[in-house]
Parts: sequence; structure tokens; C-alpha cells
Amino acid sequence: MAIERTLSIIKPDAVAKNAIGAILSRFEQAGLKVVAMQMKSLSKEEAEGFYAEHKERPFFADLVAFMTSGPVVVQVLEGENAVRLNRDLMGATNPKEAAEGTIRRDFATSIDANAVHGSDSPESAAREIAYFFPG
Ligand code: PPS
Repeated sequence: MAIERTLSIIKPDAVAKNAIGAILSRFEQAGLKVVAMQMKSLSKEEAEGFYAEHKERPFFADLVAFMTSGPVVVQVLEGENAVRLNRDLMGATNPKEAAEGTIRRDFATSIDANAVHGSDSPESAAREIAYFFPG
């Protein structure tokens, strides 16, 4: 099994709920290693650039407004099958559809305030990691 890296973001709703430690524990308990990390407040331009592939979608402005509403924690997770494993730990985008025991089921509030982001493919992971951790 290949060792991969993936980009994870703990979103403003989960930071505001004091859930940073609990969410990081989920990653570590599943065997993922945090190999880079930063806490930051995204500018509008940073959030728009990060989500550029969604710019034609009807919720784009809401997504950018939410992601700039408070600090986020951005980390690179490393481990076997990290992209898929992180997506499984996160659960479905809509917390109402997220399986029991997933991060979104336990910490998300709604489809927009959904606690975490995770890269959806190894290609996205490479692009997203370079976006926040150039070099
Ligand atoms: S995903 O996770 O990329 O497969 O999901 P997708 O449905 O393509 O959604 C892309 C990102 O947009 C967020 N999203 C929304 N934000 C606000 N309002 C609504 N209705 C909404 N629907 C989807 C979703 O959480 C994804 O953000 P990330 O950060 O990638 O998880």
C-alpha cells in the first residue's frame, strides 16, 4: 500500500467549538501522521483561490464567506492510503448523511459548516498541499 499525503482543514465551525484536539486525535488514532500544520485566518482571495474549481457553483460565495469567518487549522496528513482514509474518517459532505462515528457526524453543524475539508484525490492533494505549503 502506498504512503500518501493529503491536505486537511479544520474549518471555522470546528475551531470555534474547541474541537481541534478531538479531530486531530481521530486522524492520529487511525494511523495518520500530522507532518505539517498551520493555524491561520484565510483572506477572501486565499479562500477563492483554494475553491476555484467550485466558482460556478451556487454556494460558492457562501462557502468563501464561511471559510473566512474565523481561523482554520490546515494540516498535511501522511499514511497508507491517506486520501481515502481521511475522506472515510470525515464522512459525507452533508452531516445529516454522514455515517456514525465520522468527524462530520460528530462535529459538523450543516452542509456549509461541515467541520473539515479533505482532498478528494491524490492529484487534488498535491495541488492543495502546494497551495498552503509551497516548497
Ligand atoms: S466534496 O466534498 O468536494 O465532494 O463536496 P462537494 O459537494 O463537491 O462540495 C464542494 C465544497 O463545497 C461545500 N459545499 C457547500 N458549501 C456551502 N453551501 C452548500 N450548500 C454546500 N454544498 C457543498 C462542501 O463542503 C465542499 O467543501 P470542502 O471544503 O471541499 O469539504
